[in-house]
Amino acid sequence: MTKQVKHLSLFATFLLVSLLVLPPFCNAQPSPNSQAEALLKWKQSIANQSILTSWAIKTNLSSSSHCKWLGIACNNAGDVIGLNLAYSGLKGTLERLDFSSFPQLLRLDLKVNQLTGTIPITIGLLTNLQFLDLSTNAFTGIFPLSVANLSMVVELDVSRNMISGELDSGLFPNGTEGAKTGLFSLQRLLIQDTNMSGYIPLELGNCKNLTLIALDGSHFFGTIPSSLGNLSELTVLRMTENQLSGEIPWNIGTLTKLIDLRLFKNRLFGSVPQGIGNSSALTTLHIAENNFTGHLPQQVCRYGKLVNFTASYNKFSGPIPMSLRNCTTLFRARLEYNQLTGILDQDFGVYPSLNYIDLSYNRLQGMFSPQWGESRHLTLLRIAGNMIVGRVPEEIVQLNQLVVLDLSSNQLSGEIPVQLGNLTELSYLSLNANKLFGQIPSQIGALSNLGYLDLSQNMLSGPIPNQIGNCIKLQFMSLSKNGLNGSIPDQIGYLVALQTLLDLSYNSLTGEILSEFGKLVNLVNLNLSHNNLSGSIPNSLVDMVSLSFIDLSYNDLEGPLPNTKAFNSSLKSFANNKDLCGEIQGLRACNTSLTPKNSSQKREHSRMVAIIVTSSISLLFLIFAVVGIIALYCRGRQGSVQEYKSQSRNENLFSIWNFDGRVVYEDIINATEDFNDEYCIGVGGSARVYKAKLPSGQVVAVKKLSTTTETMEIEDHKSFMNEIATLTEIRHRNIVKLYGYCSHERHTFLVYEFLERGSLANVLSSDKEAKELDWFKRVEVIRSVAHALCYMHHSCMPPIIHRDISSKNVLLSLELEAHVSDFGTARFLKPNTSRWTSVAGTYGYIAPELAYTMAVTEKCDVYSFGVLAIEVLMGSHPGELISRLKSLVDQRIELEDVLDRRLLPPSSQKIEDELNSIVKLALWCLCVDPQSRPTMSAASQVLEIKASDHWVPSNNNQPRAK
Ligand SMILES: *[C@@H]1O[C@H](CO)[C@@H](O)[C@H](O)[C@H]1NC(C)=O
Ligand SMILES: *[C@@H]1O[C@H](CO)[C@@H](O)[C@H](O)[C@H]1NC(C)=O
Ligand SMILES: *[C@@H]1O[C@H](CO)[C@@H](O)[C@H](O)[C@H]1NC(C)=O
Ligand SMILES: *[C@@H]1O[C@H](CO)[C@@H](O)[C@H](O)[C@H]1NC(C)=O
Repeated sequence: MTKQVKHLSLFATFLLVSLLVLPPFCNAQPSPNSQAEALLKWKQSIANQSILTSWAIKTNLSSSSHCKWLGIACNNAGDVIGLNLAYSGLKGTLERLDFSSFPQLLRLDLKVNQLTGTIPITIGLLTNLQFLDLSTNAFTGIFPLSVANLSMVVELDVSRNMISGELDSGLFPNGTEGAKTGLFSLQRLLIQDTNMSGYIPLELGNCKNLTLIALDGSHFFGTIPSSLGNLSELTVLRMTENQLSGEIPWNIGTLTKLIDLRLFKNRLFGSVPQGIGNSSALTTLHIAENNFTGHLPQQVCRYGKLVNFTASYNKFSGPIPMSLRNCTTLFRARLEYNQLTGILDQDFGVYPSLNYIDLSYNRLQGMFSPQWGESRHLTLLRIAGNMIVGRVPEEIVQLNQLVVLDLSSNQLSGEIPVQLGNLTELSYLSLNANKLFGQIPSQIGALSNLGYLDLSQNMLSGPIPNQIGNCIKLQFMSLSKNGLNGSIPDQIGYLVALQTLLDLSYNSLTGEILSEFGKLVNLVNLNLSHNNLSGSIPNSLVDMVSLSFIDLSYNDLEGPLPNTKAFNSSLKSFANNKDLCGEIQGLRACNTSLTPKNSSQKREHSRMVAIIVTSSISLLFLIFAVVGIIALYCRGRQGSVQEYKSQSRNENLFSIWNFDGRVVYEDIINATEDFNDEYCIGVGGSARVYKAKLPSGQVVAVKKLSTTTETMEIEDHKSFMNEIATLTEIRHRNIVKLYGYCSHERHTFLVYEFLERGSLANVLSSDKEAKELDWFKRVEVIRSVAHALCYMHHSCMPPIIHRDISSKNVLLSLELEAHVSDFGTARFLKPNTSRWTSVAGTYGYIAPELAYTMAVTEKCDVYSFGVLAIEVLMGSHPGELISRLKSLVDQRIELEDVLDRRLLPPSSQKIEDELNSIVKLALWCLCVDPQSRPTMSAASQVLEIKASDHWVPSNNNQPRAK
């Protein structure tokens, strides 16, 4: 049997109930005919759906006609042995599926559907079942204990369903095991109130044939039962992203066939059994993000097979495992944020395959040895926050695939190697807080992909090289706290991508502030303080429309401050200069240019500078975040991908999926007259959108990318195609359908469903349309977006994170129904960025934790959703109001302060309550701590409850603002 990704979830148990007590069903062998009847009965119990049209009795009834039904496999005797309806959009419950009719069933595969209700306890009657996959549905409640009867099961997967936490016993058929259901339900409560033990059933240890257990991403808690240590056939044990606590049972370390153990993101603690890796040829070990203490398993790579190893974010102490030194198979290793000790140049070896290693924030000592230069495939090397001494070895420039290099906060000395310019892929370079001296090498200009540069807090001297102007992708640059001198080069004006921060403070820079700064229209934060800059502030700085923070203090500047918002901040930013004047309290007023005070200006929600001041450092570590995505979320989405038609790179590339199964490339070229501007309906940074009417009459939106896939590496191209292929399979009424994707040497484009009203941002910005979008419809828009996000987060495996929720990415149909667009493609569609710097996210919607974590999670979307919800109520981006709202969390918020004034106030108390609850929900979504934010499923539940309360139109009191 082929290995597939398997998950088993919704397990919870009542340990005192004997497993073998099964419902008193079925003694006689059901005939094939009765099997057909059982299938039909189930079909009738669920909503009519086209996927089951073949399920019907033909007039010439033969005993095996049901074997031809879609998804059914039979043996020679006509008994059903396989039921496979994976990925079929199936809705309904399994309640009326009489499992007792299918004793021969070997394979039950219903993954990726929209099934609800509980998993019936009678599933335990499928005693021959070998393969069970119910993953990625919306099953609720508790996984039935009877599953432990499935002694033949080899692989189990019921992951990524929804646990509501509330067991609805009404879902169990009366008269069967209803009584037991009650017990489950009761026990669950008891366990919650006690010591949280026993949620993964001990009895799972009875399924001796199990080779794979996967419980990822569910809500298990309690401990890992030690009986699992008796499953001697087990090769894969995965329980990531649950709330498991306690220690790993020692006998897990005795399993001799275990090759893949993943327990990351739980609450496990204690020490990790040292037998892990010692008893079996482990290839994968993920124990990151728990609370482990003690030593790492020292023999983790005893058999020389270890490929991926993460133990980051724990409290491990003690030495680096000695078996790692000769672990030449190592591909990815993440040990950051522990208290590991060791000598960098002794405890690590040469890793020819190594792709990614993060050793940051441990207690490593020693030097940075030249042999790191041998790991030619490294894309990320982070050893920040240790006690590394010595020089940065020149050999590092051999790592020509390096994208991220972070050696910050060590004690490195010497000069920055001049050949650094060889690292042309480098996107993130952080060497700050070391003792580096000498000049910044001019070769830095060769780093044309650099997006993040931090050389601050060193002892660098000399001028800022002119060549810095070639690093046109820089979004963040800090050179502060060095001894740099000379004037700021003109070329700084080329760095138009600068956004998060430009910090040249605490140096000895002289000369004037250049008018070129005015070109930095994306820059939010500029710090030139504590230098010797002189002259006046050029008026061109008014062009810096994004600027929110500026610090020019402690220089020799004189003359008037430009009259823009950023210069309207506090005196502190301009203090200790020669003679600046302006309207700030504490500064001399400039008698030359007196402008009348405009008191209404403050109240204005400026559309130009729609920026959240307090989260302005959000973008700081976005590149960082992208790396996190790759580390954590790119664990193969290939599983569900169908074949695509992309041929070799040398032929004319052309691919499209699921679009009526037809090739429509020519149709699109014809319909748009080869992308004539006449058909263009939108222009973005990296794409133009065209409206194309196909010969069939269907209208589609065609998003033509300005980069072709020709420029992608082959590897990337493939994963891009895979990703798109997966996305084309997604169907949700609130998600803009991606029909397909074409890549040709001339054009690369995505084909989407066409939505008549365009983006929510557009609708809100037009007074006429905004009025049409009344309170009722706005609530519906918010609810629809919540549904879409909930679906992608909780019903997709792996979950799909949007990364760029904003009012520009929500499109409206003719009836003003919201559809989220660009799901999952945000990172491909960001303008002018290489794949690593393709920072998704729109300023003003980005979650604050991206400033300090690497991981883009679903909770980032939740944050953006919060911003969007407020925006929909206000009618414009809330900007700075977000921070005010956040500080008001516990206080009363005047609803009228946030409601769009273009609409009449809500006409009834009910509607007002509804809007109030949306504001509360939005505030919850805007929690700074991502853990505190609701999941999208919780958020949409909140909205649903309100819906049934209020929006059933019972009278003509519906709000319809004119
Ligand atoms: C494991 O599977 C074999 C057939 O492959 C079967 O004979 C055996 O009974 C199963 N083990 C258990 C404990 O059921
Ligand atoms: C199940 O049985 C209980 C008591 O026996 C009864 O109150 C309840 O209405 C029944 N539920 C259904 C769905 O038949
Ligand atoms: C780890 O343990 C500490 C106290 O020992 C606790 O406060 C913290 O919440 C734990 N972290 C996790 C992720 O369980
Ligand atoms: C190791 O991780 C990489 C990237 O996450 C993945 O592509 C690869 O399949 C993993 N290998 C193993 C053996 O798990």
